[in-house]
Amino acid sequence: MIATADSQFDALQVPLTSPAVLLDPARKSLRVEHFEQMLSKLIVGQERAVRSMSNLYQVFVAGMNQPDRPLGTLLFLGPTGSGKTRTVEAAAKILLGGSNAVLKIDCGEFQHSHEISKLIGSPPGYLGHGETHPLLSQENLDRYQTKDTKLSFVLFDEIEKASDALWQLLLGILDKATLTLGNNRHVDLSRSVIIMTSNLGAREMSELISGGIGFTSAHIATHSGSTEVEQKICHAAIDAARRKFSPEFMNRIDRVVVFRPLKEDHLQRILDLELKAVQDRITYSAGTKFVLRYSDNAKEMLLREGLDFRYGARHIKRSIERFLVYPLSNLIATEQVQANDVVYVDAACDSRKLVFAKHSVDLLSVDTLELPSAMRRRGAHVRLIGLPLSQTKNA
Ligand SMILES: Nc1ncnc2c1ncn2[C@@H]1O[C@H](COP(=O)(O)OP(=O)(O)O)[C@@H](O)[C@H]1O
Ligand SMILES: [Mg+2]
Repeated sequence: MIATADSQFDALQVPLTSPAVLLDPARKSLRVEHFEQMLSKLIVGQERAVRSMSNLYQVFVAGMNQPDRPLGTLLFLGPTGSGKTRTVEAAAKILLGGSNAVLKIDCGEFQHSHEISKLIGSPPGYLGHGETHPLLSQENLDRYQTKDTKLSFVLFDEIEKASDALWQLLLGILDKATLTLGNNRHVDLSRSVIIMTSNLGAREMSELISGGIGFTSAHIATHSGSTEVEQKICHAAIDAARRKFSPEFMNRIDRVVVFRPLKEDHLQRILDLELKAVQDRITYSAGTKFVLRYSDNAKEMLLREGLDFRYGARHIKRSIERFLVYPLSNLIATEQVQANDVVYVDAACDSRKLVFAKHSVDLLSVDTLELPSAMRRRGAHVRLIGLPLSQTKNA
């Protein structure tokens, strides 16, 4: 008999020949633990979403998914820019090797019922039959699977925008994991994770985040009252979903995850992730490969410029593009930055601009320059980039 108070195992009356060993159903396999760790490095502050993904993955790894159903069906709700779409992309990056290894259907593009033919193709006799390749074909679905991971991610983004025809299609997929194309071929989705995202209730959520008139968003989002706000947001999202989506649909979802609004410390961590992504762009795709280093002031400025809690991390990305990527592109295109340079980034004195400097082959003493503090501290010989040499010398 297993030694737990509420154990019913003695009732089974199985003849036991050796002492029973208590099992631990909460323990995850190494493969799944690794996935969860990697995902939590990429997705900030959304532990519930990360756990839902890793639970699904564990069911897949164990081969315990329901037959004739998708591997899993998740509905992601919550404020805009909180990581709903990113979570799916990040899971695909880890398991299938690329953020775009996702079959993504922007429901906004299928608002008219006739547009459904882009997804499934037109039936014989109809205009366009055989001409367009349907997006939801078996080939597209299996395209990103790897030898070790025979699963695919299908993302229906912003489903509140879907037409009735798309709804019918979605209900069929959720129910039977199969789909019939215009040419009568069947598509098997039993190895697919179906994720649907929705920004339903975005206006109410945005009002809750900004706290209404008289509160600044920063006040709500960085102070202790935020847990209450989080709960209200959770209710607002679920209520909006219940109002909009039929019980028939809601009952077919394995799990609804409400993403929480991101706070300043989350956004700070996302900024670091995004800055690493800029470095990756330079390392893997830019014509000139060099290294970027940031002062704390530079990061603070990028964060400040991108801080708008109503849009989550979206404005952080915009701030990086505007203040960092555009000027960097100029520096690359005008060959002021060369391969293997170390480029230092700091905030300018007026603080709405970044200043760039690099280690130069043609070294120049900069003691008299108004150099950003972080660079001065290193005592490096650097030249400000973007200014003609004469101006740098006179500065
Ligand atoms: N929780 C998060 N963790 C990491 N990055 C995030 C997170 N939330 C948003 N981002 C960043 O912001 C961008 C927009 O987020 P996204 O997932 O598209 O928002 P939405 O919740 O509206 O789908 C992402 O591409 C990602 O770079
Ligand atoms: Mg999205």
